[in-house]
Amino acid sequence: MNPLFGLDGRVALVTGAGSGIGQATAVQLAAMGAAKVILVGRSAEKLQTTVSMMQIAAPKCQAEIIPCDLYDAAERLQLISKVVATGKLDILVNNAGTVFESPLRQTTADSWAKTMELNLTAPFDLIRGLVDLLAKSKKGSVINVSSTLAVKPIPHTSAYNASKAALGQMTRTLALELGPEGIRVNAVLPSIVDTPLYRGRYADDAAFLRRSEAIHKLHPIGRMGQSIDVANAIVFLAGDAAAWITGVELPVDGGMLVT
Ligand SMILES: NC(=O)c1ccc[n+]([C@@H]2O[C@H](COP(=O)([O-])OP(=O)(O)OC[C@H]3O[C@@H](n4cnc5c(N)ncnc54)[C@H](OP(=O)(O)O)[C@@H]3O)[C@@H](O)[C@H]2O)c1
Repeated sequence: MNPLFGLDGRVALVTGAGSGIGQATAVQLAAMGAAKVILVGRSAEKLQTTVSMMQIAAPKCQAEIIPCDLYDAAERLQLISKVVATGKLDILVNNAGTVFESPLRQTTADSWAKTMELNLTAPFDLIRGLVDLLAKSKKGSVINVSSTLAVKPIPHTSAYNASKAALGQMTRTLALELGPEGIRVNAVLPSIVDTPLYRGRYADDAAFLRRSEAIHKLHPIGRMGQSIDVANAIVFLAGDAAAWITGVELPVDGGMLVT
């Protein structure tokens, strides 16, 4: 393998690593040679499943679970302290996110606040809290998981769309600020990816499957995404093959944004 595509010896942190895109990303980071992946989420049980998957893909990669509710600013600070105490971080993947789907009149202050807290404030806090470690790395790479909805909205997800659009502008701003310190800051924009978050829009799996043909057709490539599709793009942005890429919002969307 071309070593530019490997992550030998790197230490990564992935939020929302217990399922979906975050889980696939943790496994792929390990498979591509990361020395250690720190797994963050609320459910230690889900994170343990990811550890098991990592052990199969890359038995030498160390996995550390840090349970944390990223809605909670105090828990975020505790997480940052724990990671700073380990002394090394090269890759930060801000992946945890949530969506509350509702028309404007039914959108509550609470769902707006929670969306902003998890999708926007938590990534900001983590980058700010971990920036010195990332600078020490000299190869620091931050990848924020945004959404095509940041640039091509659908109705009934105004808080989500706004949070992801703001995440994009934060990404570009911090790319400017942190580039001189050797830290790259990028985002990926997935369209529809088959994860628990997306399936949550439907009453049950049967309802999701009934819609799946139509969902596939929204994508010029002819299918909706799988978590691994996004994980592969994140791993690319994390490593040296992307050394001259910063401040981008990379669509990982089967071509949806060109429709
Ligand atoms: N799936 C899609 O179609 C799609 C499209 C575009 C963008 N995205 C973005 O992709 C990212 C990952 O989503 P996904 O689709 O992979 O969904 P997912 O499988 O539901 O993963 C989200 C993860 O975030 C964690 N999480 C949720 N709330 C948290 C909190 N308060 N504190 C800590 N962790 C929390 C969840 O674990 P716990 O519940 O254990 O905490 C879960 O493992 C999100 O940012 C989402 O907006 C997804």
